[in-house]
Amino acid sequence: MRCLGIETSCDETALAVVEDGRLLGDVMASQADLHDIFGGVVPELASREHLRLLGPLLDQLLARLGLVPADIDIVAVARGPGLLGSLLVGVAFAKAISIGTGIPMLGVDHLHGHLLATGLEHRLDFPALGLLASGGHTHIYRMETPWTMQVLGRTLDDAAGEAFDKVAKLLGLPYPGGAHLDALARNGVPDPTCFPRPYLDNDTLDFSFSGLKTAVASHIQEHGADWPRPATLDNAPEALRNCCASFNLAVVDTLCAKVARALARHPDISTVILAGGVAANSLLRQRMAELSPKVRLLVPSPPLCTDNGAMIAYAGWLLGREGFFHDPDMEAIPRGRRIPEDMRQAPLQANASVGDPFPADAPGPAADPAPETAT
Ligand code: KG4
Ligand code: ZN
Repeated sequence: MRCLGIETSCDETALAVVEDGRLLGDVMASQADLHDIFGGVVPELASREHLRLLGPLLDQLLARLGLVPADIDIVAVARGPGLLGSLLVGVAFAKAISIGTGIPMLGVDHLHGHLLATGLEHRLDFPALGLLASGGHTHIYRMETPWTMQVLGRTLDDAAGEAFDKVAKLLGLPYPGGAHLDALARNGVPDPTCFPRPYLDNDTLDFSFSGLKTAVASHIQEHGADWPRPATLDNAPEALRNCCASFNLAVVDTLCAKVARALARHPDISTVILAGGVAANSLLRQRMAELSPKVRLLVPSPPLCTDNGAMIAYAGWLLGREGFFHDPDMEAIPRGRRIPEDMRQAPLQANASVGDPFPADAPGPAADPAPETAT
């Protein structure tokens, strides 16, 4: 079974094809440079870019793979959460392909796509605990199956990635700032007492990162008068690098503490999945790996952590092989609205080739997960 995945939930226009659980190929056009001018994503510009790029990118991907639309068995699209205008462009595109060709369509929860992406590189085990830390969300999930997930905790204000981006902006780093801040942090020495570990003094699995951002703002006011702007790896003074390292450690300590708490409450779980853009963070990857010898940690390679088409194609393939699909009136769901459970299920044809859903650990996806970038 071949699934075409479409991702337009924010500022990446990305498409990929997954066949029987393996990535055949993907393309992506990043809008990061465009939005960097404004210091954050401008929703109207993002929608227009998706509209401009989706058609040519699909042509490019299919031509590269030697496929025509009729070779696709199911079209999966990120239906939310995300920016409504951006989602609508991707969903309308998927519906057009589906209606024009008769291929079934499936809307994928973008967050579930992040969590399942690691299945392109590792065998998935269930039940699993999922930490999804991205630019818009920080959720802890109990994952029973690829399509049954329960949110155990969530951020009450800023997402972890949002905290990275806002602090990076305060520090004069380019947008999106997480990866830049991570790089500076690697070249600094953290002070564990410099910033608080927010929202740990309770018994919940929720997060709150907005106070941490305020603590960094006060620290900058006190110490950062002569720090260069824009800051780069080359010109960052030691105190700035140390500030990045201390902030980075505070976020990572907090995420790890809540995951450890969740594991203690779910002793039947021995698999932890780390996902979302913040999962690319080097210290988080290292610290989560040290969490417990009893835990099997699954982390996608860094290009699969941030938004990409492969994760939607893979999640679509996992669901499509179970016969799940959506009707053409499926809605795009913006951030803040619950994704409805409105998938329908049809029996698969007896001779359908669907592939093994959870093959043994593979050395890596069929194609390089680093997507081809066209700007
Ligand atoms: O999952 P993603 O690509 O998009 C959303 O769905 O939000 O996540 C993007 C977020 C941004 O906030 C970005 O700054 C953060 O992930 N990020 C990182 C790193 N790489 C990306 N945060 C910390 N360390 C990184 N290495
Ligand atoms: Zn995302």
